[in-house]
Amino acid sequence: MPRTIFVTTALPYANGSFHIGHIMEYIQADIWVRSMRMSGHTVHFVGADDVHGAPIMLKAESEKITPHELVARYAAERPRYLNGFHIEFDHWHSTDSAENIELSHDIYRKLKAADFIYSRDIEQFYDPVKGMFLPDRYIKGECPRCHTKDQYGDSCESCGAVYSPTELIEPYSTLTKARPVLKTSEHFFFRLSDPRCVAFLQAWTTGTNAQGNQHLQAEVLAKTREWLGTGNADSDANLADWDISRDEPYFGIPIPDAPGKYFYVWLDAPVGYLASLKAYCNKQGIDFDALLDPAGDTEQVHFIGKDIVYFHALFWPAMLKFSGRKTPDNLHVHGFITVSGEKMSKSRGTGISPIRYLDLGMNAEWMRYYIAAKLNSRVEDLDFNPDDFIARVNSDLIGKYVNIASRAASFISKHFDGQLAYLGDPQALQQELEQVAQEVRSDFELREYGRAVRRLMAHADQINQAFDAAQPWIMAKGISSASDEQKAGLQNVCSRALAGFKALTVMLAPVLPALAHRVAHELFGETRNYLWADAGVLPTQIAPFKHLMQRVEPTMLDDLFEPPAQALPTPGGQPIADAIDIKDFGKLDLRIARIVECSEVEGSDKLLRLMLDVGEGRLRQVFSGIKSAYKPEDLKGQLTVVVANLAPRKMRFGVSEGMVLSASHADKDADAGLYVLQAWPGAQPGMRIS
Ligand code: 2FM
Ligand code: ZN
Repeated sequence: MPRTIFVTTALPYANGSFHIGHIMEYIQADIWVRSMRMSGHTVHFVGADDVHGAPIMLKAESEKITPHELVARYAAERPRYLNGFHIEFDHWHSTDSAENIELSHDIYRKLKAADFIYSRDIEQFYDPVKGMFLPDRYIKGECPRCHTKDQYGDSCESCGAVYSPTELIEPYSTLTKARPVLKTSEHFFFRLSDPRCVAFLQAWTTGTNAQGNQHLQAEVLAKTREWLGTGNADSDANLADWDISRDEPYFGIPIPDAPGKYFYVWLDAPVGYLASLKAYCNKQGIDFDALLDPAGDTEQVHFIGKDIVYFHALFWPAMLKFSGRKTPDNLHVHGFITVSGEKMSKSRGTGISPIRYLDLGMNAEWMRYYIAAKLNSRVEDLDFNPDDFIARVNSDLIGKYVNIASRAASFISKHFDGQLAYLGDPQALQQELEQVAQEVRSDFELREYGRAVRRLMAHADQINQAFDAAQPWIMAKGISSASDEQKAGLQNVCSRALAGFKALTVMLAPVLPALAHRVAHELFGETRNYLWADAGVLPTQIAPFKHLMQRVEPTMLDDLFEPPAQALPTPGGQPIADAIDIKDFGKLDLRIARIVECSEVEGSDKLLRLMLDVGEGRLRQVFSGIKSAYKPEDLKGQLTVVVANLAPRKMRFGVSEGMVLSASHADKDADAGLYVLQAWPGAQPGMRIS
């Protein structure tokens, strides 16, 4: 029975490039989608950028661009990654879209009408300098338990204590260093604690879909039981209502009839799944409402990481249910990707950049194969190990699978003009291949990709053994003058190997779509891509074999990890810039300057105004963004270094004639401070630095 399936992957925040974790999730989903399509099911596979929220707003602000510009920058680079790794979404959308605003409003209004929304005043930290309420991650202070300084607003990295930001000692805003003040404001809440909601979630989390599969994996179900307090009479588990609003300034969707209030990004993010599907339906002329009819047969499947289960297993189904919509049929939750057993770290050079992988000319299908070989249906982390990667690609994928074709095809082309023929009972061979393919297909459906790969590789072993045992290279000696029977024997051995190769190609097609396409079209002369049903159809001819896949060179993995020469990690967190020569350096006229006067700049919370003696017989005015680190009296009288030949720049507060040098960490959040350069005593204003 053909099924209709709506598949999504978690929507990535649009303030960063894809990392390997995104790519892993997309590959996992893409393999599943391809496999289901090969069974004849209709699958709509969509993604989108998750663009709202404070971090995106603040990042755009720090770059002096609009959030839309920031989002557009990342949106523009998405296709390179997706195409590069053969990840074929039907549609890619944005949560900042007309469809998403409309759907979010509609869902909110229905929830409100059903009495699932209420508002109340809450007290929260507010940054008086920035003029905004502070999300916990922008508040730091001293841990109330162990007194470690500079701990985040929700928990202490040193002792592990969990607390609310208001408990921090000497709290400060990481945005402005200002001391946050408590301020009251009205917030909107979704009544997750409503008995109707709790009852629904008890049923949904433990429920099964039309295929008889549990909505949730066992580990995920166990988590939701904890949250819901299921099966534990003494449990005091109590679902807290969910704060779904944020005050302006916020980059988000305005809440209807509530001026200055926006939906919290996590409300409209999953609605983005529907928005993307809707935009796709409109483009394709598909009836969106009929497709997602709560009484209909469409299956809704979300691939997500283990860190966002709470949103997808509680909030999301509840939002859908009580706004009268179809609820999800499956959450497919995966773990994180680690490198050689450790969390990835850019500074330690263990991060895998997907774009670097592609730029090095590494084959995307190696990665797809490796990830498939290591994935299962459980919520386990997947370890990327370079030696393991090389072994699996070179020994298994190429050594066992690809080589079957290269070994068998040459005999067929050379002695039989590309014609295949089978001796004995071809039906038995056909059934054997169908049987393996059937098992592999079911493994894919259950997301037991590793098992599928092990199974099909075991079959590749069998094919190779049968081929080797028959010793076709000996059979081929003097074949032109051999008997018809001998010829038929050689042809049979090679044909069986190639039939096996074709079946393996069908089984690997979800994982290696580009390779399978070439094998089907170029080697076997097919006119369409493979379906599962093709596995047992014995091929009758081949075209001359063309090289199919390169082996991984171990040095490629060194290059993948080794940070490039100009990007050596530094304590400042910033790569060293490209090399220049001494002539380039000579263009900079650096001089010793004495800070004769220093004052605050009215209307600026960043700048100080310095009057500098650079030995010219006059004073220069320079504005410098160092107010967060120095008081005017700290600097007055000090010697420093100034870029003396920087073209004067007109600023809002006056003309700045040069630049004072200071040191800081690349990551402003690193809180490593800001340090103005100072000269050793004895240096005179105007001396050149070389
Ligand atoms: O965790 C994240 O990266 C979120 N942007 C995922 C959102 S998934 C869905 F709800 F949109
Ligand atoms: Zn602590």
